[in-house]
Amino acid sequence: MAGIQKIAILPGDGIGPEVTDATLAVLDTLRTHCALPLQWQVLPWPSTDWHRQHGAMMPDDALMQLQSFDALLLGALGDPGPASDQARYCLPDAVSLAPLLTLRKQFDLWACERPARWQPGATCYLSDPRARDVDMLVIRENSEGEYVSQGGRLRAGQPDEVATQLEVFTRRATERLIRHAFVRARQRMAQRQQEDRARTFTNAAGASHAARVCLITKRNAQPFWGELYSEVFADIAAAYPDIGTHHELVDAACMKFVQCPWHFDVVVASNLHGDILTDLAAVLCGGPGIAPSCNINPDRRDLPPLFEPTHGSAPDIAGNDIADPRATLLSAAMLLDWLGEQDTLFSEAAHHLRAAVGHDLAHHADTVRGTRRIAHDIRDALLATPHPAAKRPAPPALTGDSQ
Ligand code: IPM
Ligand code: MN
Repeated sequence: MAGIQKIAILPGDGIGPEVTDATLAVLDTLRTHCALPLQWQVLPWPSTDWHRQHGAMMPDDALMQLQSFDALLLGALGDPGPASDQARYCLPDAVSLAPLLTLRKQFDLWACERPARWQPGATCYLSDPRARDVDMLVIRENSEGEYVSQGGRLRAGQPDEVATQLEVFTRRATERLIRHAFVRARQRMAQRQQEDRARTFTNAAGASHAARVCLITKRNAQPFWGELYSEVFADIAAAYPDIGTHHELVDAACMKFVQCPWHFDVVVASNLHGDILTDLAAVLCGGPGIAPSCNINPDRRDLPPLFEPTHGSAPDIAGNDIADPRATLLSAAMLLDWLGEQDTLFSEAAHHLRAAVGHDLAHHADTVRGTRRIAHDIRDALLATPHPAAKRPAPPALTGDSQ
């Protein structure tokens, strides 16, 4: 038992406040239903609105404040919309999105996990029936690589301008990332066996495994980091003989994600490659409205992990109560999984929440519903399933803005 867990809710911009409001409505029900020792505090930053009032996306001591929470749930950052309002207060991406990258880097949240499993009711854009078997976990390097933001522009605006954008790959970050991918592959394999849905992956040499890890690089054009990744991958794979391995160049991987995505299990990629592949993986499973993600440091529980839908602020639909809150709800389920590593009450609640979202998806697939309506239906689905912990009392509320 880890005691009361405190999470910060960062609604952010655009549809962020709508999807986090809906998520809190569901979490409130879940908290009572599962007697979860969970408290949250809603923060008005980082946000474009905070910038409008204070000239910065977040306060100077934001990181210190956030560090006191056990986990963070972010709605979205970026253009706040509505897109029809030409005079809205809107910042360059480099300013409005900076807090996201700052949180990932400053809290050393080096693993970004984006599960992509097709579920009944979700749109399936591929016609091959095997596309319904898609179940992969893309693990993206989240601390360095193409996102170090080092470089500059020389003679800006001149015809002979030069822009440089440095990429940095360290052995330390590569090793921890790839090892983590193998750990997750084993966990997923065990989970599948437990749930009686084992899978078999056969490699080019004819060997079969119940789980496997795919390494992504572009080593034919970017050999230095590509070879570092490949060597580290081979070294670590040797310690996991039960897990199969394969390698794909990122461009070929894009092709195969569309042609035969059911061949993938765990996929491990650099920051930028992972960014691109995870949008593609999300669409294979119905789209960004139901695609969750987390940014974690699996080695450290003293730094708050960040959970977020990856759909962005969607200024075109902001304020219309039509954003899908299910990506945020599924990200909240990942947050509960994280807390569940210390207290099984949270993992039970994560399971419960995921089942309610799955039920909602299966039963309302084609119905057009608003954000609040979806939250309402998911609360009903939660309440319809009895939970063993339902009788325990909920913890006391925090004061002020908190709940
Ligand atoms: C994501 C987003 C971010 C990224 C942007 C907003 C900087 O696309 O989380 O995938 O590229 O990491
Ligand atoms: Mn992205």
